[in-house]
Amino acid sequence: LSPPLTDALGRPLRDLRLSVTDRCNLRCTYCMPKEVFGPDFAFLPRSELLSFEELERLTRVFVRGGVQKLRLTGGEPLLRKGLPELIARLGSIPGVQDIAMTTNGLLLPRLAHDLKAAGLKRVTVSLDSLDPEVFGRMNGLGVHPERVLDGIEAALTAGLGVKINTVVQRGVNEHTLAELWRALRGKAVLRFIEFMDVGNHNGWNLDAVLPPREVLARLAGGTDEVFTPVQANYRGEVATRYTDAQGHEAGLITSVSAPFCGDCTRARLSAVGVLYTCLFASDGLDLRSPLLEGASDDEVYALLSERWNARTDRYSEERGEVTRKNGAARQKVEMSHIGG
Ligand code: GTP
Ligand code: 5AD
Ligand code: SF4
Ligand code: SF4
Repeated sequence: LSPPLTDALGRPLRDLRLSVTDRCNLRCTYCMPKEVFGPDFAFLPRSELLSFEELERLTRVFVRGGVQKLRLTGGEPLLRKGLPELIARLGSIPGVQDIAMTTNGLLLPRLAHDLKAAGLKRVTVSLDSLDPEVFGRMNGLGVHPERVLDGIEAALTAGLGVKINTVVQRGVNEHTLAELWRALRGKAVLRFIEFMDVGNHNGWNLDAVLPPREVLARLAGGTDEVFTPVQANYRGEVATRYTDAQGHEAGLITSVSAPFCGDCTRARLSAVGVLYTCLFASDGLDLRSPLLEGASDDEVYALLSERWNARTDRYSEERGEVTRKNGAARQKVEMSHIGG
């Protein structure tokens, strides 16, 4: 194996997040608000999506550049037809050590078994509240939390590792965190994510971000429950981990209050093959056109290598400065194009 590519700040390329569709069957207010992503919204035409052949080929090039972990994202990745086939293809690439997926879980009852059989190891399921009214409002469509719980059960039954992602917003779901934690801590690792200013439409506001101390207090929910910090599983892990007295794990993802750009080893490829070197990037590098124009793997690798070597992104560390200077003027890539 060749040594990983490193960027201008010395950060290696280790993780690749592949978006396989920009569509979703939910309309979370903080990601794809239905006022913007309505019935007339023009999603990407199918013909523009990377084919499985192209995804496999590009992934091989990224693996040559140092990638070991893959994560499939969307939109909602399970809306893409034939995903087990893609997972099997990606899993057969020498050097790929882990394949995970971020999903809203709604289609897991139908698909979990085949995904596991194809080689998927873990899923991270998004679930913001067990309160039907709160969750229904946050997902934009009134979808009941029970449907996501069914997906989580299906994943566990299939033998997939399960984590749960909960986006926390002050005044929206903070009062329901303890209920979620108590109900699910015995089944999965829960991670509480600070509401972030991704994309251009989610009406982000620093006041809606709950700092870690407040999240832990919410989880304790008026009891004297104690949370003990535990060491990261690996360098660059995005979640700061805590355990309760029984060893159940909660992770806090503090990309606003305590950014983790210094260890950021993640590349993101949109469903049409554009490489983004940061979740908050304004533009990316089109890797599909060179494929269509007949570029060799070596030529695509050269493009990747040049781009990663030049990478200086550290948006979360610069957030204050950037927003002060440019306000909302700076356009950012949409979450539905790079899946978080
Ligand atoms: P594992 O540790 O491999 O399980 O995965 P992970 O925690 O890296 O992945 P996951 O996609 O579940 O990350 C959880 C959430 O953290 C994402 O959905 C994002 O909201 C946020 N996140 C992940 N990576 C980044 C990043 O590079 N920058 C920022 N600002 N947020 C990130
Ligand atoms: N802030 C924080 N997390 C977000 N996600 C989507 N939008 C945001 C946001 N604005 C999370 C989702 C999901 C993953 C894809 O990213 O909850 O877990
Ligand atoms: Fe869909 Fe996930 Fe975005 Fe919600 S956060 S709209 S489930 S892609
Ligand atoms: Fe990485 Fe950009 Fe997130 Fe910082 S803000 S951790 S550079 S993706």
